[in-house]
Amino acid sequence: MDHFHYQDDRLHCEEVALDRIAEAVGTPFFCYSGKTLRHHLAVFQQAFAKAKHLVCYSVKANSNLAILDLLARDGAGFDIVSGGELERVRRIGCPGHKIVFSGVGKTKEEIRQALEYGILMFNVESRSELYRIDTLAGELGVRASVALRINPDVDPNTHPHISTGLKRNKFGIPYHNALDLYRDAQRLSHIQLLGLDCHIGSQLTTLSPFVDALKRILTLVSTLKHEGIPLAYLDLGGGLGIPYDQSRPPPLPDHYASALLRELDGFDLTLILEPGRVIAGNAGVLVTRVEYIKDNEDKRFIITDAGMNDLMRPALYDAYHGIQPVVRRFGMEEEVVDVVGPICESGDFFARNRLLPAFSEGDLLAVRSSGAYGFSMSSNYNTRPRAAEVMVQGDRFAIIRRRETLDELLHNEILFP
Ligand code: LLP
Repeated sequence: MDHFHYQDDRLHCEEVALDRIAEAVGTPFFCYSGKTLRHHLAVFQQAFAKAKHLVCYSVKANSNLAILDLLARDGAGFDIVSGGELERVRRIGCPGHKIVFSGVGKTKEEIRQALEYGILMFNVESRSELYRIDTLAGELGVRASVALRINPDVDPNTHPHISTGLKRNKFGIPYHNALDLYRDAQRLSHIQLLGLDCHIGSQLTTLSPFVDALKRILTLVSTLKHEGIPLAYLDLGGGLGIPYDQSRPPPLPDHYASALLRELDGFDLTLILEPGRVIAGNAGVLVTRVEYIKDNEDKRFIITDAGMNDLMRPALYDAYHGIQPVVRRFGMEEEVVDVVGPICESGDFFARNRLLPAFSEGDLLAVRSSGAYGFSMSSNYNTRPRAAEVMVQGDRFAIIRRRETLDELLHNEILFP
C-alpha cells in the first residue's frame, strides 16, 4: 500500500499535490512519502514479530539521510556495503549493534572503520576476507563478530543481473566449502563466529527460492551445532519483490515471514532481515516534465527532462515502471508511445510501446516505483546534475537533497598544470 493517489485529478503524495512541488523545486525530482516508508517498515517488522529479529534496512536501495533517519526512529537497523554507507548511518546516530556489513570487496580501511565503530557483524564473503578481518581486528586489539555468507546455489528466478545465490555468481562462500571455513574460523583468535548469512537475489516474486535456500542453510546450521559451533544469528538478506505492474503481485511480507518462520520452528536463532526495495520502492516517484513530443515515422516519442542518469533501471534491467500524468485532464485520449530521456543513448527510456494518456509538451508525469534503486543508482552522465529529492509527511513537504548545481558537479576537476 502506498500514499500516492489522485485527488481532483491531481496526483498527490499524501496530502500534497505533486504539481505544487514541481512548481516549488523544479523538475526532475524524486518524491518520497514518509508515511509509506514507515508503513512498509512497520508491516515488515510486524510480520516477524513472533520471532527474535532485527530488520536491517538495506541502505543501498535509497540512502538519503532523511530516509535513514525516519526508519531508524521506527527501530530499523541497517545493512551497509561500504565505508560511505557506514558514514551515513553514523551521521544519523545509529548504534553499532544495529549494523551489519555485507559486500564482496571490503577494503582494509572500511573494515577498520567498522571495527572501530563496533558493528554487530560482518557478513564475510570469502576465506581471504575472513583472514583479513582477523588480522585487522588483532591489530586493533578487538574481536570481530562475523557471519559467513553462504551461497546456497538456488535459482531465485529473477533478472540475471540481480540474482546472487547461484554457483556462478560472485557472492558468498560455496555451500560445500562452508563447513571447512567455519572450522577454520573457529580457530582464529580475533574472530567471533556469530552467525550465518544468505542473500539469493532481488525482486523475487515467489517464495519457493527463499524456502529452498533456507532449508539448505538450516541443514548446515544443524551440522555446525553438532560440531560444537552454535550460531546465534541467521541473516536471511533481502530480496522480496514489489508490484511494479498489474500482473500477479509478489507475496506480502506476512506470507514471506510465515513461510520462513515455519522452517525455523525449533531453532533458537535471532533473525536478521535486510529488506530494501520492499520498504522504499513504492514509497517514491520520479516527477519529470515533457520537453518535446516528436513523431518519427510511425513512432511517437515523449521526451522528458529526466533520463537514464536519474533512473537507470529500465536501461539496465529492461525494468517496467508505471507512468501516470501528474494532472489528469478530462477526456485525455490514449496513445501508444515511447517515453524517453534526453541522453545520447537509445537505452535511455522509461517506457516503450506503452499505451498512455496523450501527453502534451509541458505536462508533468510521474514514473512510479522509483523510491528504491532510483536516486541511489543515479549518475552525472552527460554532465547532468543529479535530481532533487523531496519528502512529504502529511500536508508538508521538504527538500531532503537539493538539486545538484553545475559548480558542485565540476568542483573536483582540475586542468593539467
Ligand atoms: N542484502 C544484500 C546483501 C543485497 O545485496 C541486497 C541487494 C539487499 C540486501 C537488498 O535487496 P532488496 O530487498 O532491495 O531486494 N539495482 C537493482 C537491485 C540490486 C540489489 C542489490 N542487492 C535494481 O534496481 O533492481
